[in-house]
Amino acid sequence: MRESWLNTGRDVYTERDRELVGVGHAAEARSFFLGHPDYRPTPLRALPALARRAGVASILLKDESARMGLGSFKALGGMYAVARLVMAETEERYGLGPTEEQLRVVAARTPFVCASAGNHGLSMAAGARALGAGAIVLLAEDVPEEFARRLRSFGARVRRSGSTYEESMATALEAAARHGWRLVSDSSWEGYTAVPLDIMRGYTVLFEEVNWAGRSGKSGGPGALGGGPGDVGGWSGEPPTHVFVQAGVGGLAGAAAGYVRDRWGERPRIVVVEPEAAPCLLASVRAGEPVRVEGGRTTLGRLDCREPSLLAWRLLSRLADAFVTVTDEEAEGAARLLVTEEVRISACGAAGAAGLLSLGPAARTALDLGAGSRVLLVGTEEAF
Ligand SMILES: Cc1ncc(COP(=O)(O)O)c(C=O)c1O
Repeated sequence: MRESWLNTGRDVYTERDRELVGVGHAAEARSFFLGHPDYRPTPLRALPALARRAGVASILLKDESARMGLGSFKALGGMYAVARLVMAETEERYGLGPTEEQLRVVAARTPFVCASAGNHGLSMAAGARALGAGAIVLLAEDVPEEFARRLRSFGARVRRSGSTYEESMATALEAAARHGWRLVSDSSWEGYTAVPLDIMRGYTVLFEEVNWAGRSGKSGGPGALGGGPGDVGGWSGEPPTHVFVQAGVGGLAGAAAGYVRDRWGERPRIVVVEPEAAPCLLASVRAGEPVRVEGGRTTLGRLDCREPSLLAWRLLSRLADAFVTVTDEEAEGAARLLVTEEVRISACGAAGAAGLLSLGPAARTALDLGAGSRVLLVGTEEAF
């Protein structure tokens, strides 16, 4: 059943939230990426036809389809976390300001391991390869073989394990403990938060680029090499009034919530969009604690997560305004609509747009969504 739920626990952004995710972390992560040869800010595209259809003043879509040649925003997370892990271990061993050689010696000590629906594994593998380290990625059986092929091309060893993301995660945890590998999970739980926090902070770079684009009129600020068709078309630089962001375990949505509240305050409405078959954040926020959902099947594979990340739940249960679910068909339809505006992203990538289009009159009124609204979407992944 499709659902929409207004967050009755919505509260203001506090210093404790800022310690987790805020604009300071975005600036720090961005300065890391500015030193990376493949880093370019991604385009911010104006979508006037979709705005007309949605009955809002404007829609901007941050198009992550070409992020660092890895095909999704996830490139910003795993890669950053791997680099931070290695830096911390190297500084512990050699002191501050280690050399490239020292970083490589420490990185090669033991491989990195993660469970992935595809994109996170690519990011971790690319980060490991940049430092000359090994990567092992566990994929559930239904993750498309195309991801396995791309992972191998980044030097990762790929293993199939379990029929869900949670099952492959359990195998990754066990393998890390047994072999002494470094676990790089994009989800978090009691006692495991440092790495997933870095991953979320890495994601904030994309929102920092949105802010830069508004200030400069160019995609992404310093280091920007331009975007493409529709790039920052017509954005006055005014903050969005609504941000729709799709979620799996909630890392991206949590990053959005921390960044948006710190940068643009309490006014923008943040709406989390999940597949109807896997609404783990909606269910957890409604329950007042992280819960596991049992659902049907979904073709939105990268959003198919049954348990939320603890950190994401903590942030979103107070900072998000609403949670909505979409059907696979709605997400696929939104991806097709975007093609008419020359944006090519997958159905997972278009789920935020589907969430916007799916809202009924009551939800629109409750969220103050209408003809004056400026909506920000994240096109999280390329079409394939
Ligand atoms: C394309 C795409 N969009 C959205 C998400 C959701 O991100 P998160 O799991 O951090 O909520 C993912 C996660 O893998 C993804 O690959």
